[in-house]
Amino acid sequence: MSDHIFDNPNLRFKDYIPSGKTTWQSPSNIALVKYWGKKPVQIPMNPSISFTLKNSYTETTVEYKPAENGFDLQFFFEGKRNETFEDKTKKFFKNIISVFPFINQLTFTIRSKNSFPHSAGIASSASGMSALALALCDIENTHFNTLKADNDFFKKASYVARLGSGSASRSVYGGLTVWGKSEFIPGSSNLYAVAVTDYVHPDFLQYRDTILLVDSSEKKVSSRAGHALMKTNIFAKVRFEQAKQNLKRLMDIMKAGDRQAFVKQVESEALTLHAMMMTSTPYYLLIKPNTLQIINKIFEFRNDTKIPVCFTLDAGPNVHLLYGRYDEEAVNRFISLEIKPFLSKKGVIQDYVGKGPEKK
Ligand code: PMV
Repeated sequence: MSDHIFDNPNLRFKDYIPSGKTTWQSPSNIALVKYWGKKPVQIPMNPSISFTLKNSYTETTVEYKPAENGFDLQFFFEGKRNETFEDKTKKFFKNIISVFPFINQLTFTIRSKNSFPHSAGIASSASGMSALALALCDIENTHFNTLKADNDFFKKASYVARLGSGSASRSVYGGLTVWGKSEFIPGSSNLYAVAVTDYVHPDFLQYRDTILLVDSSEKKVSSRAGHALMKTNIFAKVRFEQAKQNLKRLMDIMKAGDRQAFVKQVESEALTLHAMMMTSTPYYLLIKPNTLQIINKIFEFRNDTKIPVCFTLDAGPNVHLLYGRYDEEAVNRFISLEIKPFLSKKGVIQDYVGKGPEKK
């Protein structure tokens, strides 16, 4: 690891090795300024900001007991042993041994489930990795009493979550979160996220995110491969610069509560993310015809009604529809009248800006 701020050789059990169990529910998030491109180890090329969601979460129980033959782990996803998640989690745990040396003294049984339908096309790495990071910090705190202040606990959880999946670093706080160093955000860091909820107009903390499910098939190019392709994208340098400026602009817009300006900034970011995919070598497309149909319908609806509803996209074809609480009725009508024909069988997921993870 290139950054050692949380390495701690003292976190080893001495006299006895305990057993126990902890459960965390941690939400997904949707970025408004996107993280796309990184350098080792999980250092973002630009700062990003996201809304933490409420209804789309992963709930993970981590059970631990003394290891008889060194560290081991079993992973059950939605009740069934899952070898893909097991291998991924083993790799993740081995990678953070210097942060939590006690991992080597334990065997783990991990049971995890998502609130959103399986393979709905919703990325579960942010919610899944943050839930695991929170559980590990909780084990540390229970037995070593080292993370008593909330501030220390969540900072470390965000740092650890980041090592599992970059965007997961932003899920440990509710509301609005920034990950990545920005001269405009006090306390911001490339190593962990910070909450910026207190700086913005309260209207944004009541925002809705209706996730319009267009296509749930597995994507052909993973986010990991997508980040890597930014290394050779000829637009990368200006993109990273633009994202830095966009974060500053969006923060100013959100402080002022300017919902019309918010629309322009957020949609431009979403389209730029996909433009980066289209201009990578090799190039690729994750949006589908129905993604574009929906986007055009949103443009028309906004033009006709002047309601500041906007879309954003993550690395996939599904559309996140963002709007304020008082526009809920009009937007729901719009979805049932105009958007339904372009949705997959899975329909929509109704979500909101949430308050962050919870210990169960
Ligand atoms: O955290 P990762 O490696 O899954 O990358 C997330 C990338 C985007 O969702 C497209 C953008 C973001 O900032 O969340």
